[in-house]
Amino acid sequence: MSVRVARSADAAGIADVAALTFPLACPPGTRPEDIEHFISTVLSVENFEAYIADEARTVLIDEPTEAGILGYAMLVAGLPADPGIRAVLSAEPTLEISKLYVRPTEHGNGVAGRLISSALSYARESGCRGAWLGVNNQNARAQRFYSKHGFEIVGTKTFVVGVQTHDDYVMQVRL
Ligand SMILES: CC(C)(COP(=O)(O)OP(=O)(O)OC[C@H]1O[C@@H](n2cnc3c(N)ncnc32)[C@H](O)[C@@H]1OP(=O)(O)O)[C@@H](O)C(=O)NCCC(=O)NCCS
Repeated sequence: MSVRVARSADAAGIADVAALTFPLACPPGTRPEDIEHFISTVLSVENFEAYIADEARTVLIDEPTEAGILGYAMLVAGLPADPGIRAVLSAEPTLEISKLYVRPTEHGNGVAGRLISSALSYARESGCRGAWLGVNNQNARAQRFYSKHGFEIVGTKTFVVGVQTHDDYVMQVRL
């Protein structure tokens, strides 16, 4: 299995994948300057170093060869702070799959499947009864991918990118 927990030294490689793939998850019409700002702040190398060091988070990477990181997922333990999301989740303890991004050249190649399988194994081994995530309501490919792995739409939430507020579905899988 080529998926492993990221180390601090992986932060720059993960940030590269994040910069390449975050725009793909944004709905048409998202302002380029807002995407750029999100990448340079939320998805910075420094932030990934902090995410990797954070005990509440686990960053998984798929790196089958020394050629580089093909995709990553970030897991966040515990209930979400947002009461609107908590209200629609029916399985506890739970874990958020906060990010799951794969290089476009690897879409359909099984990388994402390895990452989500590892994430759900990690959740089960941590004693979770469920896992949840937010996905843009226009991101049909990601929704289909999550459905294939047992997730169902249980609610909605919003996600802010710059000046725009995007509409997400909340999806959950019971473990
Ligand atoms: C989401 C992501 C991780 C899924 O990985 P993937 O390798 O593309 O996933 P798969 O190919 O296994 O599954 C995608 C499914 O969507 C289908 N699909 C592709 N385009 C689609 C579309 N426009 N509408 C609906 N379904 C679509 C595929 O046919 C496939 O289904 P199938 O296996 O039944 O044929 C990957 O596409 C990605 O990194 N996207 C960009 C970042 C992103 O959106 N991340 C998710 C943020 S929540």
